[in-house]
Amino acid sequence: MLPVAALAQAALEARRNAYCPYSHFAVGAALLSAEGEIFTGCNVENATQGPGCCAERTALCKAVSEGVRRFTAIAVAGGPEGEPPVDFCPPCGVCRQALAEFCGGELPVILVKDAQQVRTVTLGELLPLAFQRAADCAKKEE
Ligand code: THU
Repeated sequence: MLPVAALAQAALEARRNAYCPYSHFAVGAALLSAEGEIFTGCNVENATQGPGCCAERTALCKAVSEGVRRFTAIAVAGGPEGEPPVDFCPPCGVCRQALAEFCGGELPVILVKDAQQVRTVTLGELLPLAFQRAADCAKKEE
C-alpha cells in the first residue's frame, strides 16, 4: 500500500520552503524511493528566471544525486504562496519528462490539495508516448 497520507503531508511541508518571490506560487513535492525513503523538494526561483527549478525536479535531483534512481510514487502540492492549495497542481511538462527518465508510465502521481483531498493519476496519463532514451543506452547500464 502506498503511504499516500505521509507523502501528501511531506509535500505540503516541503512547500513551506518554496522560494518563489517572483511568481508567489509555492510548490512542494515528495518523491518515494523503491526503498521507502522520501525525498522532498520545493520550487526555487531566480531573478533571471532560467535557473529556477520546480519542486518535482528539486526532489528528483536530490534523490539521484544521492544515488537513488528507482521510485514508487510522487506527491505534489502547489498554489498561491501563503495560503493552502486551492486546487490540484499537476506537474509541468518539463517535470513530466524529467520523471519519465527514471520512472515508468505506471508511476502514481498524487496531486494534493490537503491531507484529505488527493487525486492520484499516473505519469503515463500525464505524459503519453513519452520520449525515451534509445534502447542501446539503457542496455549499456545493465
Ligand atoms: N512549479 C513547480 O514547482 N512545479 C510544477 O510542476 C509547476 C510549476 C513552479 C515553477 C515556478 O517557480 C512556479 O511554480 C510558478 O510557475
